[in-house]
Amino acid sequence: MPVRELGLPVRVSSPGGLPERVTIWEVGPRDGLQNEQAVIPVEVKLEFLDRLAGAGLTTIEATSFVHPKWVPQLADAEELLAGLRFRDGVRYPVLVPNERGLDRALAAGVRHIAIFASATETFANRNLNRTLDEQFAMFDPVVTRARAEGLDVRGYVSMCFGDPWEGAVDPAQVVAVGTRLLDMGCSQLSLGDTIGVATAGQVESLLGAFPSVEPLAVHFHDTYGQALSNTLAALRLGVSTVDSSAGGLGGCPYAESATGNLATEDLVWLLDGLGVRTGVDLDALADTSAWLAGKLGRPSPSRVVRALRG
Ligand code: HMG
Ligand code: MG
Repeated sequence: MPVRELGLPVRVSSPGGLPERVTIWEVGPRDGLQNEQAVIPVEVKLEFLDRLAGAGLTTIEATSFVHPKWVPQLADAEELLAGLRFRDGVRYPVLVPNERGLDRALAAGVRHIAIFASATETFANRNLNRTLDEQFAMFDPVVTRARAEGLDVRGYVSMCFGDPWEGAVDPAQVVAVGTRLLDMGCSQLSLGDTIGVATAGQVESLLGAFPSVEPLAVHFHDTYGQALSNTLAALRLGVSTVDSSAGGLGGCPYAESATGNLATEDLVWLLDGLGVRTGVDLDALADTSAWLAGKLGRPSPSRVVRALRG
């Protein structure tokens, strides 16, 4: 008998110290598909986005307006936005690195953007072709113009815990970069463990180094299987927005050793079990990831998808 019919996961009332509700920031169509070897047809991407919204996700990062030669997998951003069925109550943020990207996003009717900074010099250079300092000069006019147009702007900080070239990252460096993004006008800061090396103690140290957790979200890749325990550590410290990717797809083409994000199904299984509300229908989501795995020609890396859909 499938475990869902047995009433699993067993729900307990939400223990103290956890938020009653968590906002899931779904990054599968962007972080997931940017890392695929094959270019996925736009029709498949559109169905993926629509199924995610149908499963109850209300924030779905749709694509990136980056240089198409840097990320050819998302070069169809305009076509995707033109074909997207915008659903009421669902936000579709996109990544924007610079003013050229912002022009393209505005022309496509985007209302929510995310800029993405690096906590380390090497990754700023590899991912953005800028020095650590130059990245701020690139982002500043983007945030100013976007805010003037009434757009919401999220800021990512990548390599918050470890960097494949520079090793361990000092929390003070992450706080310095994050503070500059917040001062520019970002409404939220997503702290990225781009290569998935963090453990829960490091998460506590980093979150504790910020003056407030209120603007913070977390973005864990699952390379070393720590993403769920890291998320739980963040939730216990008051974070209530968590990034994850349907089916556990993901990775960054400019960071060696980056693997998939925390799978949204694994996150929802945990939160359902804890009685923390997400608004996500786990069965509809697992169906979506099983369907996409069929299109990609390989099984989903999510443990929960494999357990539920074999
Ligand atoms: P660059 O080569 O330095 O660009 O790339 P440039 O400013 O020198 O411009 C060169 C030419 O590119 C110009 O054309 C521009 O117009 C054009 P020309 O005048 O020579 O004809 N151009 C563009 N065209 C279209 N769209 C644009 C654009 N920008 C410039 N947006 C750039 C700099 C930032 C553009 C490049 O490095 C880039 O696109 N990087 C993106 C890399 C990326 O997307 N990485 C993955 C996302 S980050 C991630 O996954 C981490 C995250 O998940 C969090 C975590 O896990 O930690 C967010
Ligand atoms: Mg990522």
